[in-house]
Amino acid sequence: MTSPRTKSHALLRIKTTNLYAEAIGPEGITQSEMADLAPELKRVHQVLTEKTKGGLDAEFACLNLHTGMLELLPQIEDMAARIRCFHEVAVIGIGGSSLGAKAVHQALTAVTTNNSKPTLHFLENIDPYHLEAVLLRQRPETVAAIGISKSGGTVETAVQYLILRDWLEKNLGQDKARQQQWLVTDPEQGWLRELARRDGIPALPVPPRVGGRYSVLTAVGLLPLAVAGIDIHGLLAGAADNAARCTSDDPRNNPALEMAALFYLLDVHKNKRTSIMMPYIDPLQIFVDWYCQLWAESLGKHMETRPGRPPAGTLPVRAMGAVDQHSQLQMYLESRLDKIFTFMALDEWEYDLPIPLSEADKKFFPYLTGKHMNDVIEAEFQATRQIITDTGHPNMTLRLPALDAHTVGQMIDLYQRTTVYAGLLYGINPLDQPAVEKGKKLAIQLLSGGVSIH
Ligand code: PA5
Repeated sequence: MTSPRTKSHALLRIKTTNLYAEAIGPEGITQSEMADLAPELKRVHQVLTEKTKGGLDAEFACLNLHTGMLELLPQIEDMAARIRCFHEVAVIGIGGSSLGAKAVHQALTAVTTNNSKPTLHFLENIDPYHLEAVLLRQRPETVAAIGISKSGGTVETAVQYLILRDWLEKNLGQDKARQQQWLVTDPEQGWLRELARRDGIPALPVPPRVGGRYSVLTAVGLLPLAVAGIDIHGLLAGAADNAARCTSDDPRNNPALEMAALFYLLDVHKNKRTSIMMPYIDPLQIFVDWYCQLWAESLGKHMETRPGRPPAGTLPVRAMGAVDQHSQLQMYLESRLDKIFTFMALDEWEYDLPIPLSEADKKFFPYLTGKHMNDVIEAEFQATRQIITDTGHPNMTLRLPALDAHTVGQMIDLYQRTTVYAGLLYGINPLDQPAVEKGKKLAIQLLSGGVSIH
């Protein structure tokens, strides 16, 4: 295993105290507001339980991946072993077909020093400079391509795949080029599935009922992550452990239900319309992007089923500790009380660096004597959380026992589950994205010359 080992099976520590009025005053949620929501929480838990029955065929199959994907793991590992023979791996996909793998890859390879694994290049956004600079200057025989698209025809993915395939074929010939391509797509339909059948490109299926942003624990995420040497069993085990702690219809015994309830109440009762996620763990930067997509695309919807009510959804916003203390914190502390904060901090750092101080340095930084870098990170986190709390902002904290696959698997399940509960509370469908589809269709019409924009 080339990534950090899964070291423990400890659970995330989820501190929600500072979302309640008892801790932060009038901007928080009272126990009576939670009690009033209890029947609704029982109802949405019941709906989630019913719609999760049936494994990968369930409507909420995305919450069953910790068990549903186990059968496919040997195939994923077998394919990954073949792809690992190449030095450079182009992972071509966008949105839900890229972000999850990118996030976990960054989180779990940040401290890896083993150079024997391939380099992964995530080709997500359409960008000729990136494609040219990163990939087309490689030796073609060293490059493998993984095309990932649930629908099998997303234009950004198709365009980059077509260019890369053409480059491989021109340089290596069609037969050899085909031996350097792999696909992850719908089991039956779409352009990529057609390529798999027509050109004999090996392809893994995406469970039809699992949507893009919920698919990191399918082959969409697991294949590239296995190529990178990440412990995909550990990811699923972490997700399973989180699922196991979320089976109650009482929010005191179900962290996903409690988080969904509190974020929902903070939106509709306290006008908290912005949800800021601020890890004090640098390798979680892309995880925040993943959360932003999951939360925004799932919950940012019209209240069609409840006419007269405002649109649903809090705006997810990226932040990083400690850099945004030097950028955004002024606004957090003195502007509107319209925000909810999620902090993330790490219990056990795999690496730590002592701070070397000469006697002359100590005169300037006496408080750093005998300290390590991570003492500083922890102090910065605790100080920022305290002043955010003192300002009256609702905030919660996820404490990660370690930065490993088991922990990240828990976080994925926790956020997917919380998002689905929140969607049910808002009365919207957390699995669809009708507005995104509108944009895709219009772009295709524009390319076809069928419409003009003014
Ligand atoms: O979450 C989603 O549904 C989207 O972000 C999709 O993942 C994205 O549009 C890519 O779609 P596809 O996997 O069909 O190429």
